[in-house]
Amino acid sequence: MKRLDDYRLRFGKKEYVPIMIGGMGVDISTAELALVAARLGGIGHISDAMVPTVSDRRFKTGYVKQKQKKYKFNVANRDKSVVQFDLAMLAEATKMHVGRTMEAKKGDGLIFVNTMEKLTMSAPRETLRVRLTAAMDCGIDGITLSAGLHLGSLALVQDHPRFHDVKFGIIVSSLRALQLFLRKNARLNRPPDYIVVEGPLAGGHLGFGMDWVKFDLKTIVDEIHQFLKQEDLSIPVIPAGGIFTGTDAVEFMQTGAAAVQVATRFTVAKECGLPAKVQQEYFKADEEDIEVNLISPTGYPMRMLKSSPAIGAGIRPNCEAYGYLLDGTGNCAYIEAYNREVDKNPDAEEVSVIDKTCLCTHMRNFDCWTCGHYTYRLKDTARRLPDGTYERLAAEHIFRDYQFSTDHQIALPTG
Ligand SMILES: Cc1cc2nc3c(=O)[nH]c(=O)nc-3n(C[C@H](O)[C@H](O)[C@H](O)COP(=O)(O)O)c2cc1C
Repeated sequence: MKRLDDYRLRFGKKEYVPIMIGGMGVDISTAELALVAARLGGIGHISDAMVPTVSDRRFKTGYVKQKQKKYKFNVANRDKSVVQFDLAMLAEATKMHVGRTMEAKKGDGLIFVNTMEKLTMSAPRETLRVRLTAAMDCGIDGITLSAGLHLGSLALVQDHPRFHDVKFGIIVSSLRALQLFLRKNARLNRPPDYIVVEGPLAGGHLGFGMDWVKFDLKTIVDEIHQFLKQEDLSIPVIPAGGIFTGTDAVEFMQTGAAAVQVATRFTVAKECGLPAKVQQEYFKADEEDIEVNLISPTGYPMRMLKSSPAIGAGIRPNCEAYGYLLDGTGNCAYIEAYNREVDKNPDAEEVSVIDKTCLCTHMRNFDCWTCGHYTYRLKDTARRLPDGTYERLAAEHIFRDYQFSTDHQIALPTG
């Protein structure tokens, strides 16, 4: 019986354990988590989502306070178009987060950064260019382009000296999205180094509509394999979403996958950024406690625990401090939803906003409990303690369980 360890992911002449831990913003996939994957010969991700905030927490910088102070005058203003990111600050914060992580890397694996296009940050092109450039400058091994079509992202860094050295990957949820990406980037003569195919059972934002249930990862992966074969393109394909056991992974490897990307099982790792109390919510969740909703201002459906404090909260938009989802004109769907509720309830001290959420603030505070479909199986992966709580796992244990398990078994930690 095959184990995931019988396979290797190949980039050029180099080989890796074919396990990629997916990027989980905001700092849920921490540097510590990514470093474990790299040490064990696989691939870890950090995320550059809200990187100034992450840097403040990790390195005691004061980026958020500085921005908040600069735009304090605008807090009560509904028009957020004056709020802009200082690009030098953004570069500095990215370099700290990425650079220090790379300096700490040990082992034969790689560390990539997950870069979401939907973080439009008031000036989509300029801020994205800075995020990509800064990560490349300070030695990142690879960049996974996610949450968006990224039709112009590679062109933003085509003159960077590491343009052909850094691995670039794209996350797609359909063959169409992949074809579009390839067509729009054809003139750069730089195909992606890997393609993550994310199905409808993944955590975070979904690349599907609310009819996600009609789609199936295996079918999409097969279509993409066929297309690549037809086009004579040899690009590693990495399925993601709902791969819960090593055997699930082996089934994809047997049909030609180069590796798998997994995340949900690592949300209960000690190295994961979620607070321990929140991790207990993930452990306890049953299938009916999880939903896919449309409260993210990005417009993409998102999967989360129904008990997430972010659902129905009506806090004042915090764009002066954060503002990561402001578009090029200073708009965010939450601002509109919040103002609508305030106008409807002019005398209320607090409002509740049901249809959208202030994603920046709630992700920053770990109050939006986004999760994969199989979160309800996490309770089967850990030991229950006498007080009824679950014991968090070492990331190494989870990684090795994927690597060596057979027959859909999940090993509980010993000792
Ligand atoms: C808590 C959580 C947060 C996530 N955040 C992001 C993110 O910021 N960007 C992204 O591209 N994918 C994100 N994802 C998706 C994962 O990177 C991964 O592709 C997917 O969840 C794999 O499926 P699995 O969780 O069933 O293993 C997130 C997933 C989880 C569980």
